[in-house]
Amino acid sequence: MRLRHLFALALIAVPTLVGPLRAEYDPIFDFIPLGGRSLLAQVLEGKPPAADVRALLSARHSRDQWVEELKARAKAIPALQALEERELLTLADYLAFNMPLPTARIPADLARADWKTLLPRDGRDLALEYCQSCHIITVTITQDRSREHWLGTMNKPSHVEIKLTPREREALASYLVLNAGIPIDQVPVDLRAGGASY
Ligand code: HEC
Repeated sequence: MRLRHLFALALIAVPTLVGPLRAEYDPIFDFIPLGGRSLLAQVLEGKPPAADVRALLSARHSRDQWVEELKARAKAIPALQALEERELLTLADYLAFNMPLPTARIPADLARADWKTLLPRDGRDLALEYCQSCHIITVTITQDRSREHWLGTMNKPSHVEIKLTPREREALASYLVLNAGIPIDQVPVDLRAGGASY
């Protein structure tokens, strides 16, 4: 089975590739679509009106409600108009999992906030942090799966010990449903474990 070949090679490749680098900042991973933390940081770095920022950070909605909310606010927040449909869904999904932010986490000076470090981790962060210590990230990011299938993978004996809470597992599965399934030819050659594809 080809996946097994990729996996066997990946076990050898991982230690040299990943090392002590902070994965989210290594440009080799740029091909993995941005998660909600980075998308929201991008939107907020455009310095939209403070009232809109506070509304985004303080509301509790379902993903569908967030999609409507983001579309409604796109007039006041031009950075939202630039998002592609999948990015909008990824952002709405992230907001559904992470908002409202605890009041203490909302900075008083919104214009100077360092949003990238201040916002909670997104599914991409979780994948880079928890899904490449035993095998190459490619094993995860090339799979096109349903939410149930992802949660099933994470519940296998090989994965059940990973230190992710049930809610983080849900958030990761949700990100992967929208953003994984990346064709192997879009994966950097160094992450293809010898060029295996499946
Ligand atoms: C503790 C080591 C370990 C970590 C960490 C790990 N995996 Fe795995 N993974 C394995 C092993 C071992 C296999 C092959 C055996 C198996 O499939 O259970 C595997 C195989 C896989 C496969 C292919 C087989 C399948 O089930 O379809 C996928 C997809 C996968 N992992 C996803 C993930 C995701 C998502 C994460 C992060 C939440 C992750 N892995 C983190 C050990 C790990």
